[in-house]
Amino acid sequence: MPDGKNILVGITGGIAAYKICELIRMYKSSGANVKVVCTPNALNFVSILTLQTLSQNKVAFEQFEIGDFKPEHISYADEADVFVIAPATASTISKIANGIADNLLTSIAAAFNKPFVIAPAMNTNMWNNPFVQENLQKLAAQGYTIVPPESGFLACGTTGEGRLAALDKIFDTTVDILCGTKKFLSGKKIIVTAGGTVEDIDPVRFISNYSSGKTGCALADTAFRRGAETVLITTKNVQKPYKVVKVKSALEMQTALSEEFDDADYIFMSAAVADFRIKEFNPQKTKKTDSDTLTLELVKNPDILQYLCNKKTSSRPVIVGFCAETENLIENAKNKILKKGCDFIVANDVSRKDIGFSTDENEVYIINRNLDVKKVEKQSKLKIAEEIIKEVYEKSGNLCTHK
Ligand code: C5P
Repeated sequence: MPDGKNILVGITGGIAAYKICELIRMYKSSGANVKVVCTPNALNFVSILTLQTLSQNKVAFEQFEIGDFKPEHISYADEADVFVIAPATASTISKIANGIADNLLTSIAAAFNKPFVIAPAMNTNMWNNPFVQENLQKLAAQGYTIVPPESGFLACGTTGEGRLAALDKIFDTTVDILCGTKKFLSGKKIIVTAGGTVEDIDPVRFISNYSSGKTGCALADTAFRRGAETVLITTKNVQKPYKVVKVKSALEMQTALSEEFDDADYIFMSAAVADFRIKEFNPQKTKKTDSDTLTLELVKNPDILQYLCNKKTSSRPVIVGFCAETENLIENAKNKILKKGCDFIVANDVSRKDIGFSTDENEVYIINRNLDVKKVEKQSKLKIAEEIIKEVYEKSGNLCTHK
């Protein structure tokens, strides 16, 4: 993770500028320092206040400001380790490729001699314009990293190539450049479960829980970034550059896991699986009656983790369970690893408001079969995921020269 690295984000005037607010949050969660520079047009799409609050830094957009002894374009270029321009419009791409420096962003670009990440976003015809393509080729030939746009629905109402690449891709590209991320999981298949299962009562009602699926997503993203063949089995709607299997109930999750199990090397069971489901699903909406009470009969769901641990051979796959507790965290987690037979258990305290369910941060304990406990201090779920994967990989017999 790019702890303490300096990322300069350049935003130009395209509608995709609004998405960069989330990209800034991702960079900040990964521990990087973020500064933002905007073209004047970009500020028609996003506000300085939003960018300033998210980056926790002053946002630069004017070329000349009285009072600074060092011109901004030089100090920004000096400080940053990478310059990420997203979205990059046809205009800015073409200016940079031709050495034109007519605003602060393009001036910094002209003075910047470290790695660039350029994520273009524009209308399909602009994208296909031969001059724009020629200018992009010029940048690529000079070693600028281009994260190409995707096909999809565009703000101009058409469908085609030109939509900003997924933020995950821009983020991963940046981290790879900054950290030279080692693909120590290449050749390994990793399955991650995420989200809370949904157990239907009738066509309009269900039983579920508060799990956001964020930890699971962060684990799958990390596994993928580290080179693993990644499968995310989740109850949430997500788009990822790796295989996602959408499920709803515990039984569907069990089926999906059984289908992926045989050639898996690691399974991270971070989903919050309902222990019970409705005994008899009512195919019609349950009507209100004169009675003041309603009794729902529940039946036990299979314990998928235990079921998989029983299927496991001595060495494969390594299975990691998760436990969310409101009291006696370590003691309950130790009992659980022994009862369920998994290789590791990751425990977190869900009684605390500042970590766990639906928040972006967590603090966890990783416990192995010898009942050794490793505390992972409170930090973003993204960094927690990196620590969990690293610890499990190393403690299951691999030497991980991380970074
Ligand atoms: O027993 P408890 O629900 O606290 O255990 C949590 C762990 O067990 C998690 O890894 C969760 O994904 C898994 N689990 C399961 N099947 C269930 C309930 C929990 O696989 N029915």
